[in-house]
Amino acid sequence: MNVQKLNLTNSVKEFEYAKSLIPGGVLGIRRPYNFVEGEYPIYFDSGKGGRVTDIDGNEYIDYLCAYGPMIIGNREEEIDNAVIEQIREKGFCFSLTQRYQNQLAEKFREIIPCAEMSLFVCTGSDATSTAIRLARSYTGKTKIIRCGYHGWHDWCCEVKGGIPKKLYEDVYEFHYNDLEGLKVLLKEHGNDTAAVIITPFGHPLAEEMQEPQPGFLEGVKEITHKYNAVCIFDEIRSGFRISMGGAQQYYGVIPDLAVFGKAMANGYAIGAVTGKAEIMKRGESDVFISSTFFPNSLSYVAALKTIEMLERDKVLEAIWQKGNYFNNKVKGLLDKHKVGARITGIAPMMFITFDKDQAKQYKAKRTDFYTQIIRRNVFLQPFHHGYICYRHTQEDIDYTIKAIEEALFFLEEKYQ
Ligand SMILES: Cc1ncc(COP(=O)(O)O)c(C=O)c1O
Repeated sequence: MNVQKLNLTNSVKEFEYAKSLIPGGVLGIRRPYNFVEGEYPIYFDSGKGGRVTDIDGNEYIDYLCAYGPMIIGNREEEIDNAVIEQIREKGFCFSLTQRYQNQLAEKFREIIPCAEMSLFVCTGSDATSTAIRLARSYTGKTKIIRCGYHGWHDWCCEVKGGIPKKLYEDVYEFHYNDLEGLKVLLKEHGNDTAAVIITPFGHPLAEEMQEPQPGFLEGVKEITHKYNAVCIFDEIRSGFRISMGGAQQYYGVIPDLAVFGKAMANGYAIGAVTGKAEIMKRGESDVFISSTFFPNSLSYVAALKTIEMLERDKVLEAIWQKGNYFNNKVKGLLDKHKVGARITGIAPMMFITFDKDQAKQYKAKRTDFYTQIIRRNVFLQPFHHGYICYRHTQEDIDYTIKAIEEALFFLEEKYQ
């Protein structure tokens, strides 16, 4: 059940042009090799709700959601109008701070279990790096133990080009759900360890997603404290998605510090560090946290409005319902068609991956599967999990399930 390749003429032309202007044409994870080259568009033109349109006029149901920020949907009028009003009526970039950060910090204290004090930055990487600096200052120690992706800054960047070794040599890594691995690291480095930072929900790069095994997060916190280190949850993806209070609320384990970003402002650039006052207070004088754009108000206004809507419209409940429906249906299809694929994750964030085989046929299957999916105008990433947003409709989800079934028929015919 093959279907025609999409017309991507404008995307390809624009990308060729871009390569002479911008290193790699486009940056990082948005480069074509992170999708199926030649099959996926490279440039989007617009979006509305859960749909996006590329520069060749192809429309897609978008399950990548801008890699996470689009929790409600694109062009969300209430949020955009609040931002536009701010621009028109007051302005947003001043020599001194406007008042919205107090409101946001108050809101954090109300809804996020660990939040005693908060501070706001521009990106997720800003937030994780700030939390690390606070923890190092608070403990007077240097080493960091990490689990998960925490951004592109020197201490945690996955690709080491251009980074002096001394800037990351005090950072050690363990695998999600591997409490023993963490214990071994702490036994060796615990006395010098300032913090253990972990994504409370497991979403390793291009791998199956994992929920915490019973006792895992509790164990991480306990052993981190045993060595007088700071327990940091990186909630950049799980925050304002798994529950209003984050994964810490959902799983009932409260860290010392937590960082948020992505979904908290429905696409506007903001990151947050929150947690125990005695640690956060290191930011009063010992730790320098400042950027020209940190106090700009538009993202605060967007975050306040987004959070208001998430609460008022019970957005996360709706996402859980849709996502559970989607995941159950897809699981049923994958059980039936047996092409060596599986769906992992939880309702708001899920991933269809292919089981590795010795002959490495899984790679070809993955390419074929995602090719068939994108040709049917469903935008899912082969190497990164997807998200459900509030504006995905029942019709979108049912259409997607049908597209997945057709792609599975294609694989069955080709590989069996
Ligand atoms: C868990 C996690 N932490 C940190 C980051 C870094 O955030 P940003 O890309 O906004 O710098 C990301 C980004 O994907 C992330 O997923």
